[in-house]
Amino acid sequence: MLLRRGGLSPRLAVLTSGGDAPGMNAAIRAVVRAAHACGTAVVGVERGYRGLLDGAFVALPPGDVDGIAREGGTVLGSARCLPFYERAARDQARAVLRDHGIGALVVIGGNGSLSGALALSDPEEAGAEAVQLAGIPATIDNDIALTRMSIGVDTALNTIVDACDNIADTATAHSRAFIVEVMGRDCGFLARAAAVATGADAVLLPEAGHNEDELVAVLAGAVRDARGRSPRARRVLCIKAEGVRVSSERLKQRVDAVLADDEIETRVTVLGHVVRGGRPSAFDRLLASGLGETAVAALAAGATRVMAAWRPAYEAVDLHDALHQPHAREPGHGDARDSAGVPISARLPLQ
Ligand code: F6P
Repeated sequence: MLLRRGGLSPRLAVLTSGGDAPGMNAAIRAVVRAAHACGTAVVGVERGYRGLLDGAFVALPPGDVDGIAREGGTVLGSARCLPFYERAARDQARAVLRDHGIGALVVIGGNGSLSGALALSDPEEAGAEAVQLAGIPATIDNDIALTRMSIGVDTALNTIVDACDNIADTATAHSRAFIVEVMGRDCGFLARAAAVATGADAVLLPEAGHNEDELVAVLAGAVRDARGRSPRARRVLCIKAEGVRVSSERLKQRVDAVLADDEIETRVTVLGHVVRGGRPSAFDRLLASGLGETAVAALAAGATRVMAAWRPAYEAVDLHDALHQPHAREPGHGDARDSAGVPISARLPLQ
């Protein structure tokens, strides 16, 4: 992490990039409000890095972000911008930021978007044109290190659990086995968490490194075990992560062949982009608010090339202390302080 002298730039830009994630709007709102509290005006960049290259800026006064925290997607729009992997595009972006008098940038997105941010702010590449930069992790995949959760994961998980509960009705009524495929790119976090939350019979994860025969054996074994425990009127649920590179339909066909004598019907449901949309959960709104505030506070304190993160841990604590020490007061507001040591949350009105 680098530290800079001087306060927050009078103009800060915020963009959302890559796959949208529920809660991105709550993060935008928090960035706008925290920056405003520090006397900094915020401009939004439309359509991620693509809009940055085009200079597609829109003023974001605090009044314009009222009420957006409950909306899914991103009010700024998003895009995947392949040219940004090239230095020429990043040079162009830096020139656009300079021409618009923008000295700080907050990037809200997943690992590709944050990698772009790291390259954009690389002091060797950017020289005197380096903007002050903070990232906010937002991706349903939850594949970014040093934060327990990225924005969007909780909502996506709730969507998956709801879908599996719905499927359980049909599965139970027909005594069927379902393979439910969930997004996550190369990461099995969503699939694993959903499997725990739904009490699934099996989960297929890319991290396990199974070959196709092994995947079929896991599925067929799970179905037989489940039926062995409760022969009728029982749903069998197997969750497959998108990152497992054998299609769910192919696995179904092979499992059907193995179970041909058992007279077990199987079905496949690929949840796809359904998992990425929808109103953010309360948790995602709080997480996004805390991360947005933390990102601005870090910039105000002079940091650059940082990522706002949330890092709780499971641990055993003293029971007496748990009952007698002050409990958390401000959900959604971190302990972030500005360069004068004033908690940013102290300046934020509630609505
Ligand atoms: O990174 C989020 C994600 O939804 C992944 O889970 C998925 O693999 C990918 O984006 C899909 O991308 P696109 O919406 O561009 O098809």
